[in-house]
Amino acid sequence: MSTERAQFRPVPAAVAAAAARRWWDGNAEEYLAEHGDFLGAGDFVWCPEGLREAEAHLLGDVAGRRVLEVGAGAAQCSRWLAGQGALALASDLSAGMLAAARAYDEALGVAPGLVQADARALPFADASFDVVFTAFGALPFVADADAVHGEVARVLRPGGRWVFAVTHPLRWAFPDDPGEAGLTAFHSYFDRRPYTEVAADGTVLYSEHHRTLGDHVAHLVGAGFVLDRLVEPEWPAGHEREWGGWGPVRGALLPGTAIFCTHRAGTAD
Ligand SMILES: C[S@@+](CC[C@H](N)C(=O)[O-])C[C@H]1O[C@@H](n2cnc3c(N)ncnc32)[C@H](O)[C@@H]1O
Repeated sequence: MSTERAQFRPVPAAVAAAAARRWWDGNAEEYLAEHGDFLGAGDFVWCPEGLREAEAHLLGDVAGRRVLEVGAGAAQCSRWLAGQGALALASDLSAGMLAAARAYDEALGVAPGLVQADARALPFADASFDVVFTAFGALPFVADADAVHGEVARVLRPGGRWVFAVTHPLRWAFPDDPGEAGLTAFHSYFDRRPYTEVAADGTVLYSEHHRTLGDHVAHLVGAGFVLDRLVEPEWPAGHEREWGGWGPVRGALLPGTAIFCTHRAGTAD
């Protein structure tokens, strides 16, 4: 299917999910060929700014904890967590990404559990995890983010952490360009219609969904989470690697990533 056009337009939830699954199955290899070195096979990198969990400690102490990753991709983060003694389980919608995860497992000899699951319908019992997290998984690709937050709240024990990294909402207003051209706002921050790529026959090939900061907070509060911290990683001096719209030029001026650190209402850790 060739791409006919890119546009901002509403996408029904089922169409977005089908597109995400198809896109990640079809592009897993290419995506990891481009970004696999930066992410590492058993490292936990939160974002293109290069913030690592080893330094950020956003999930708290994980040894012995039941930790679920949603939208895990090739499960690099869960593999690192397993190495730290966590009972790590990585889930993802895409069989293609999970196949890449199995290949990494074999190469490293470290294997977190792997489960194919849509983050909007998790096949786990209530309160069965201490921590749930994702680094750019699931949320950007669903039309119904409240369904993800609702499921995460259900499978987390009271007080358990839900930490997720997404593209910083501010970025929506700017072109997806890491250079000077990406510094001029061109699009409304308040336009919630997803960015879509549509084939000539009308099939939605890809959709990416924007939420304002206020939308994220409303979803979290609605699902019973308490917001503890919003981390906006700064672009480190000397870090030259570009990733899509991320790079040192914009990184010096604008945030690229937002990491929401929250816990399910109840006794926090
Ligand atoms: C950008 S990757 C994030 C994974 C990893 N942290 C990385 O940086 O490669 C996005 C992942 O979200 C997954 N995904 C998309 N929609 C999903 C959904 N509804 N439920 C679970 N995973 C989903 C994709 O299959 C993909 O593996």
